Amino acid sequence: MRAVVCDRLDGDPSVLRVAEMPVPEIGDGDLLIKVGAASVNFPDVLMLSASYQHKPELPYIPGMEGAGTVVAVGAAVTPWKVGDRLIFGVKPGAFAEYVKVPAAGHLMRVPDGWSDAEAASFRVGAVTAFHSLVHRAALKAREVLLVHGASGGVGMAAVQLGKHLGARVIATGSDDRRLAVVREQGADFVVNLRTDDMVSVVKGLTDGRGADVVFDPVGGEVLEKSMRASAYGARLLVVGFTSGGPTKIMSNHVLIKGLSILGVRAGETARREGTGYFRDYATELPKLAAQGVMRPHISHRFPLERVADAMRVLIDRQVIGKVVIEI
Ligand SMILES: NC(=O)c1ccc[n+]([C@@H]2O[C@H](COP(=O)([O-])OP(=O)(O)OC[C@H]3O[C@@H](n4cnc5c(N)ncnc54)[C@H](OP(=O)(O)O)[C@@H]3O)[C@@H](O)[C@H]2O)c1
Repeated sequence: MRAVVCDRLDGDPSVLRVAEMPVPEIGDGDLLIKVGAASVNFPDVLMLSASYQHKPELPYIPGMEGAGTVVAVGAAVTPWKVGDRLIFGVKPGAFAEYVKVPAAGHLMRVPDGWSDAEAASFRVGAVTAFHSLVHRAALKAREVLLVHGASGGVGMAAVQLGKHLGARVIATGSDDRRLAVVREQGADFVVNLRTDDMVSVVKGLTDGRGADVVFDPVGGEVLEKSMRASAYGARLLVVGFTSGGPTKIMSNHVLIKGLSILGVRAGETARREGTGYFRDYATELPKLAAQGVMRPHISHRFPLERVADAMRVLIDRQVIGKVVIEI
């Protein structure tokens, strides 16, 4: 099979090459999926420089999520069968013609009417947004939700889910053209961090109160300012650090405002907590998808051979929703 291979971690996607690799052999509890599409996530970029918490052994096939059709099932596999169209997560291995996944992992049927590209773009954003807003922050209707990195994959899913849960959603980003799409995806207000004063805009929109919940995949100055844009007793979700690295949090701001700082590790929590979380993902996410909630917006599509260009879209901050590799 053709697959993208990484055999050197120097941080630049140009090291990636397409090579002929053996089709994975499946065990009794596994499925073999012919991948239709896979999508790019920021952790794929971080893994290339060994900056992500999970460090795969070299050489590895990148790609954390995709969708395709089951072509073989192990002897002990239920309920999936050959021909099923499934959304899968893998750690990593999605940028290939075939992928092996455990049937006991978090798999989901492709919603009716969705393309492989849309399906391949759903899982990471949806799981991260759901775990953040529902499990961690318990977001309530009419609360004010401030979403950073809203033109990216997990940020846009948080905008869509927050709106569905009845929150007033204020979304931030750094480009008016991409923020216009965020607005179409459900944000009530958008703030361009390059041209607007985020703290005063949020305060102005909330009669001086600030946001009740902050979803932050960006970190750095954005997280620091978010404390000033937060309401008393707000919940701050620390989701990621696309701005470059971990951020020092001022404990006096946490105290004065009675803030709750909530770390988000969507995949790891499901692995540690087990069935309850998996059950939520298995029951709630398909329902939301069927209702069209968190249906991904795709801004760029590339063939497997152009995987480096696909990753550069994220690095260059050009993404609007998701970047897909069609296989
Ligand atoms: N905690 C979890 O469980 C979990 C799960 C999945 C992902 N994540 C994390 O969430 C973050 C976002 O992932 P993603 O896949 O949504 O990424 P993405 O699609 O590339 O979106 C990231 C957004 O961050 C903004 N950004 C601000 N400064 C940036 C910079 N210096 N470089 C690149 N982007 C920058 C960009 O918006 P503007 O250009 O408009 O500012 C961009 O839209 C990553 O840190 C990832 O590791 C966490």
